[in-house]
Amino acid sequence: MLNFELYNPTRLLYGKGQIASIGQLILPNSKILLAYGGGSIFKNGVYNQVTEALKDFEVIEFGGIEPNPHYETLVKAVELIKKNKIDFILGVGGGSVIDGVKFISAAVHYEGDSKEIILNKMNVNWQTVPYGAVLTLPATGSEMNNGAVVTIAESNDKLSFSGEPLYPLFSICDPTVVSSLPQRQIANGLADSFVHVLEQYITYPQNAPLQDRFAESILSVILEVAPAILSDPADYDAATTYMWACTMALNGLIAMGVKEDWVTHAIGHELTALYGIDHGRTLAIIGPNLYQVMFDTKKEKLAQLGRRVFSISEGSEEEIAKKAIEALVAFFHSLEIKTKLSDYTADYLQTSDIIVNRFRSRGWLAMGEQKNITLDKIKEIVELSY
Ligand code: NZQ
Ligand code: ZN
Repeated sequence: MLNFELYNPTRLLYGKGQIASIGQLILPNSKILLAYGGGSIFKNGVYNQVTEALKDFEVIEFGGIEPNPHYETLVKAVELIKKNKIDFILGVGGGSVIDGVKFISAAVHYEGDSKEIILNKMNVNWQTVPYGAVLTLPATGSEMNNGAVVTIAESNDKLSFSGEPLYPLFSICDPTVVSSLPQRQIANGLADSFVHVLEQYITYPQNAPLQDRFAESILSVILEVAPAILSDPADYDAATTYMWACTMALNGLIAMGVKEDWVTHAIGHELTALYGIDHGRTLAIIGPNLYQVMFDTKKEKLAQLGRRVFSISEGSEEEIAKKAIEALVAFFHSLEIKTKLSDYTADYLQTSDIIVNRFRSRGWLAMGEQKNITLDKIKEIVELSY
């Protein structure tokens, strides 16, 4: 295990009815920007709950943050904040709204062209606008981490950035919001959170048994809760379990002291930028094939996954590791998520070259926990995903 420092300042309020507490978490007399997405919050009652909780504050609204939020949209909110002297942002939505708010929060005081924050994957270490979040879609973990992913639509760059001031001051996680989610978004959330754990866990043995067991428990809980939440999104017990598992999958805890992979995400972001495929689905297309191509360096952890999470006991270590990859694909299929790029687009034959060229131009020549996922491996992984 490597040395580590654990810091996570986000206050989490979990459970039914917690939205009503928002007013007590924001400084009195704050001027608030209420940021949201395409309008789901008007249909499921979340907007009414939020505005009721904010009735003693001056609130300006900014709606229309799209899935895979666009820089071009978010800069409009930055102007609104400057013009109206806003001192707090409340993001209400899924990962896209919360990530969008992270960008807005960082861009207000950035001296220079705020596009650089995205293009240079900057470490945000300057003054930001404080913000809170009301999560409406369990998936990304954005409600308790300091990372964000924003797309520059003009150049089709979907890139992540992060920084310590970007943790939400608080996040409200009321599992009743799950009841209005379409099956497609619940499936996306289950796949995304599962792969978040894998990015931190399917590496090589790093003498981190507690992190391993944390990771395995999150994976096991996601497998257990998936059929229940898909069959009844209004099942409160299942929704609480699903929501909490998604937060724990990417709030930094299981990454402490270990090297992580994240190449499935790097390739996945390109598939979203190129073809508009939902984030969670891109991971289901790429993840299993990355494990095939990088089998030699990941087989010990794959076998551990097979034994401890998928309960596979028959066969040699290598056979168990191979069966774990098959079980992962079967899990995605059980969510009705297709795992081949050709299931999503007919126009896929150039994809590997496009992605390799983009990675080369960004200097991403050797990635993953052992810096051994080179451009020839990227090409192989993407082509195996066709
Ligand atoms: O925009 P509205 O109308 O709100 O509708 C949204 C959107 O269309 C809808 N929705 C959200 N909550 C709902 C609801 N519909 C009905 N009932 C509700 N309660 O769901 C649609 C998708 O929302 P979105 O926020 O895009 O989904 P998700 O939470 O999966 O976020 C995906 C984004 O997060 C990034 C992804 O790359 C992608 O851009 N990620 C962020 C991460 C982070 N910050 O740590 C890590 C992840 O790996 C991921 O990359
Ligand atoms: Zn993800």
